[in-house]
Amino acid sequence: MPTHVNSDTERQPYIEFSHVDKSFDDQPVLDDVSFEVKRGEMVVVLGKSGVGKSVTLKHILGFLQPDSGRVRVGGFEVSKLEESELVEVRRRVTMVFQSGALFDSLTAGENVAYPLRERATRGEALDEQQIQHRVDELLGLVEVEFAKDLMPSDLSTGMKRAVAIARALAANPEAILYDEPTTMVDPLMAQTIGDLILKLKKQKGLTSVVVTHDMKLARKLADRIVFLVDGKVAFFGPAGDLDQAEESIIEQFILLDEVSLLG
Ligand SMILES: Nc1ncnc2c1ncn2[C@@H]1O[C@H](COP(=O)(O)OP(=O)(O)O)[C@@H](O)[C@H]1O
Ligand SMILES: [Mg+2]
Repeated sequence: MPTHVNSDTERQPYIEFSHVDKSFDDQPVLDDVSFEVKRGEMVVVLGKSGVGKSVTLKHILGFLQPDSGRVRVGGFEVSKLEESELVEVRRRVTMVFQSGALFDSLTAGENVAYPLRERATRGEALDEQQIQHRVDELLGLVEVEFAKDLMPSDLSTGMKRAVAIARALAANPEAILYDEPTTMVDPLMAQTIGDLILKLKKQKGLTSVVVTHDMKLARKLADRIVFLVDGKVAFFGPAGDLDQAEESIIEQFILLDEVSLLG
């Protein structure tokens, strides 16, 4: 991404989808999807399984390209960026994957250190003491300091997810994307992770996108909600405005609530 920033860039949304269409094998997944995420804002993308939430996140990082429409990140149209510029986008915007995928052969601490060591290859080397200090700080921030020398197989799903969040923060991103952060964790840990995501947004002013089918989490976290139904944006606005939404949208929400109580 070019380093020059024109004066408009600060005022523009950090992430912007305009009229994005995406199909796979003639099966439409995203249909005229438009929404934006302002700098420092937390937007929750809500919808049932298979609706296109992960596909939406992959467009932000340029892993997928829209068939039509535009995705802008930090003022730049993602589909127009060269590979080297995409690498820079993926440094500024990091993703906590649905699986939480840690390197199983590395300790929690070494997982978090990984992006810091990678920086050395880009000429931004930290010495070993600085790396260890930063790892301690990040594990402290996500409240799993004790896990530093443990292997992922020794950690619960919730703890692994906290470590994955610490690793996503290591490169000092401007924005963070969470794909189903509370799926497969027990209700208490889900609450802890929700609290953690809120704390990171408040303390670090991180622009955040959270993808979930969990209504309770969405209500807790969202500045604004994007609700996807059949690939379309059925609602985009503050959670509090949902009460005034069309009846058909509210019905869809209630259905989703029942699904998330089951799952
Ligand atoms: N790379 C791909 N190739 C073909 N189909 C895909 C691809 N990625 C996602 N899909 C399809 O797009 C739809 C939405 O997927 P996804 O965004 O993963 O749903 P979710 O909302 O559960 O995250 C699904 O039907 C999925 O099978
Ligand atoms: Mg998904």
